[in-house]
Amino acid sequence: MINFKDWTSEEIEFLIDKAIEVKREPTKYRTILQDKSLAMIFQKTSTRTRVSFEVAMTQLGGHAIYMDWLTTQFTLADISDEIKYLSRNVDCIMARLKRNSDLMKMVSASRVPVINGCDEKYHPCQAIADLMTMKEHKGKLRGLRLAYIGVHNNVCNSLIEACTMVGMEITIVTPIVHESAYDAELLEKAKKTGLYHSTLDAKSAVSYADAVYTDTWVDMELFGDPKFKKEKEKRIKLLMPYQINNKLMENSKALIMHDMPIHRGYEISGEMVKAPNSVIYDQAENRLHSEKAIMLKLFNKF
Ligand code: CP
Repeated sequence: MINFKDWTSEEIEFLIDKAIEVKREPTKYRTILQDKSLAMIFQKTSTRTRVSFEVAMTQLGGHAIYMDWLTTQFTLADISDEIKYLSRNVDCIMARLKRNSDLMKMVSASRVPVINGCDEKYHPCQAIADLMTMKEHKGKLRGLRLAYIGVHNNVCNSLIEACTMVGMEITIVTPIVHESAYDAELLEKAKKTGLYHSTLDAKSAVSYADAVYTDTWVDMELFGDPKFKKEKEKRIKLLMPYQINNKLMENSKALIMHDMPIHRGYEISGEMVKAPNSVIYDQAENRLHSEKAIMLKLFNKF
């Protein structure tokens, strides 16, 4: 599961419905992955992705192995050799890497399924949890309208892909595009559905949205980096008019969404995080239930 290019709309909708079912009846799946192991490789920091996959494996009766890139031989050896070995010992690999091209090397070398735990282009696991959350709160996906406001990045790409595949409209309000995330094929496919729109008018996008979503303005590894200070200040100045706050959300009953980690006072104000229509913590919790559904699907348990 690298992105949704090899998935059908039906498979995505099925996965979301299964995630809701697994959340409702966790005990039914308590031993389903007994004796199975998941390797979790992290080249970047994480809270939710690490915890949700590890707890998911525990609650499904399996075992997860945390592998910090810097303390493995991935730093010294060929990625393909390391994955060829790893996939003879584990049943599934989840990796959060800096480059999609390295993830694709893993896919080519692996005997077992590989899950993208977020690279510079895509964050498919997050999108599944997000759509699951919208379905729980709104009772449906088809016909819903999502406004994504902020930087066009990996999270934005996966939302564009997933929303247009399940019949949701998505309007992106993204004055900055991460060059490394740009995927012409994905955008072309989304445009053909007629469900994908782009504007710089945040107020208008919010006015007809059922859910309003934002993400960090600066890549997580750069947020505290002094070398990135100038670029960070430039972005803050350019993006501040697009902050999710009381003024932007005035008269809107839309769900407020954020994939976390949150940078209060930047992409979203503190009041909006705890607003009655904020579903941010539901989204984060749903990473656990949706990771379970993703793994059960990849292990052919559905
Ligand atoms: N949303 C998300 O992927 O969270 P982490 O970076 O903490 O894993």
